[in-house]
Amino acid sequence: METHPFPLRLHVQLGERSYPIIIGSEVLEGASEHLRALQPSQVVLITHPQLAEWYGEPLRQRMEQTGIPTYLLTIPPGERTKRWEVAGRLLRQMAQLTLDRRCIVAALGGGVIGDLGGFVAACYLRGVRYVQIPTTLLAQVDSSVGGKTGVNLPEGKNLVGAFHQPVLVLIDIDTLKTLPRRHFRAGLAEVLKYGIIADETLWRLVNAEAHNLRQGDSAHLAEIIYRCCEIKANIVSEDETEQGVRATLNFGHTVAHALEAVAGYGRLLHGEAVSIGMVCAALVGELTGVTPVGTAEEIARALRALGLPVALPRGVEFDDLLAVMARDKKARDGQVRFVLIERIGQARLPIAVNEKEVRHALGMHREKFLWGAM
Ligand SMILES: NC(=O)c1ccc[n+]([C@@H]2O[C@H](COP(=O)([O-])OP(=O)(O)OC[C@H]3O[C@@H](n4cnc5c(N)ncnc54)[C@H](O)[C@@H]3O)[C@@H](O)[C@H]2O)c1
Repeated sequence: METHPFPLRLHVQLGERSYPIIIGSEVLEGASEHLRALQPSQVVLITHPQLAEWYGEPLRQRMEQTGIPTYLLTIPPGERTKRWEVAGRLLRQMAQLTLDRRCIVAALGGGVIGDLGGFVAACYLRGVRYVQIPTTLLAQVDSSVGGKTGVNLPEGKNLVGAFHQPVLVLIDIDTLKTLPRRHFRAGLAEVLKYGIIADETLWRLVNAEAHNLRQGDSAHLAEIIYRCCEIKANIVSEDETEQGVRATLNFGHTVAHALEAVAGYGRLLHGEAVSIGMVCAALVGELTGVTPVGTAEEIARALRALGLPVALPRGVEFDDLLAVMARDKKARDGQVRFVLIERIGQARLPIAVNEKEVRHALGMHREKFLWGAM
């Protein structure tokens, strides 16, 4: 992986709530300086035990050297941790540490830690500042930017949460060296998504770098992450609370959310479900005349080259998928809403698609791409 001596920097523009995103190698080494500059009374690092050992404890020690009391709170890894009860436990631990309003929560981990840490920060004392230090590719290109925080309920994913923007995002690409390859590839689905919805140049770069990216080792990684963050930052600056253009980030997610629910959370990683969902969405687009015919094949080829699944998992019934899609919190009046693309690099705002067309697209998907082994 190429090292970038000078971190790249960009901004999410949200008036008083604007914040920088810093991307590069060895960013964690300088994290204590960035945190100190925010003048917190105390810092609480929320992370998983393994990440605490590798990255959290060294950062806590560097923070202590700045004279700012810093605490490390760990929670088990996994989507199951992103729940109400765990948020409650963290809040109580924070209260017991007598953290005040000027404290900073630093979420060090993947999307689970980011969403949960951000949610806890949004709730504690009616809202304290937080910093995102994402360590998965998915979190670095997506979940750490934009201020969506929350937890899951037994009734569904992300049903409780708040829009609460971080004050800083620190992206150290070196942390990806310890990330399991499967998780890295899952993040590549979101990377390709940005190319598909907003940037043909990024699409071409990712395709050209597919072999290296698949191995988790591209000299263009920092640049690719930067471009994804830039797209997300621009979209969030324009539409913070998803009234319009932010919804295009959900390309592939209508089917992905349903797949995750039907296949069982954990069987498919989120990015893998998005990979399959993007091919389905492209087919829906082709069927409704929005997307040029052949685009789904092109996207599927690109995803396969990145080592991602494109076929629907075995044993998943269309009826079950459709039932979940109709229940999705983004569905309106029982109609399934899809983000479609007009071409690679250009998405459209979500439109309602009737069940017949979705079923037809799923059928075409099954014929073209066959059932997967997962
Ligand atoms: N807020 C948003 O805008 C947004 C957007 C997309 C996804 N999400 C959420 O993100 C979550 C998924 O995030 P994720 O894919 O990052 O999964 P994750 O947070 O569960 O992390 C995946 C696994 O990788 C491990 N890990 C993290 N960093 C590591 C590293 N550097 N080295 C080794 N292991 C590491 C974690 O411990 C975990 O086991 C979901 O809950 C999803 O809802 C939120």
